[in-house]
Amino acid sequence: FATLKHQAQSGAPLYLQLRKSIEDAVNRGLIGPGDALPSERDIATKADISRVTVRKAVQDLVKGGILVQRHGSGTFVAPRMERVEQSLSRLTSFTEDMARRGMVVRSAWLDRGLYAPSPDEMMVLGLSSNELVARVARLRIANDTPLAIERASLSASVLPDPADIGSSLYAALELTGNRPVRAVQRISAANLGDSDARLLEVPPGIAGLHIERISYLASGKVIEFTRSIYRGDAYDFVAELRLTG
Ligand code: GLP
Repeated sequence: FATLKHQAQSGAPLYLQLRKSIEDAVNRGLIGPGDALPSERDIATKADISRVTVRKAVQDLVKGGILVQRHGSGTFVAPRMERVEQSLSRLTSFTEDMARRGMVVRSAWLDRGLYAPSPDEMMVLGLSSNELVARVARLRIANDTPLAIERASLSASVLPDPADIGSSLYAALELTGNRPVRAVQRISAANLGDSDARLLEVPPGIAGLHIERISYLASGKVIEFTRSIYRGDAYDFVAELRLTG
């Protein structure tokens, strides 16, 4: 960054020049995915420019998905995303899907608790207004990359203590004999809103996938109603089609 001030005479606004030199450093591999950027103050001092200019350049790069900001820990080069190829023909859990790929799974809790059910929860889960719904909302993370926001609703009668599911909802359901055996999944396009984009560490407005899964026990009873937002830049859903007849 040190030469920036000298080039400044050459015309383009300083923040654009800084943006370009950071972009060049990323493209040339001088700083790689996951590497921390020096602090705003360090860059400003080295390049002899104001912190406001640095902030503007960095914010542009965050918007463009080149850098990511993590609250409290700084600014990093965005991880390079390898797309996840997800089969649509098997009823598996996030934990199982990622473990099969050798990825380390973790979740951040967004919500867990018992609530009065919403009208659509009552309808899908067959609850009456005096029953409670258990909500389990998590940010799903694989190899430190947030991939999806999942909000599951179940009858409180099968999940009286939503805080108790450990790291896998399906593993917890399995233990009580409530693992689903069939599901209907609906996938539709959705641009990511600001708060979802922030959680998923992607620029707001990029494509996402809204996935709704309603899953059933062998008895035909609905066990799970989950609405999720998946990163559109991270997933390919693949189904095998056969000519029958
Ligand atoms: C998938 C499904 C969700 C399901 C989840 C369970 O991601 N889309 O509907 O709730 O798996 O995953 P886990 O058992 O890892 O909590």
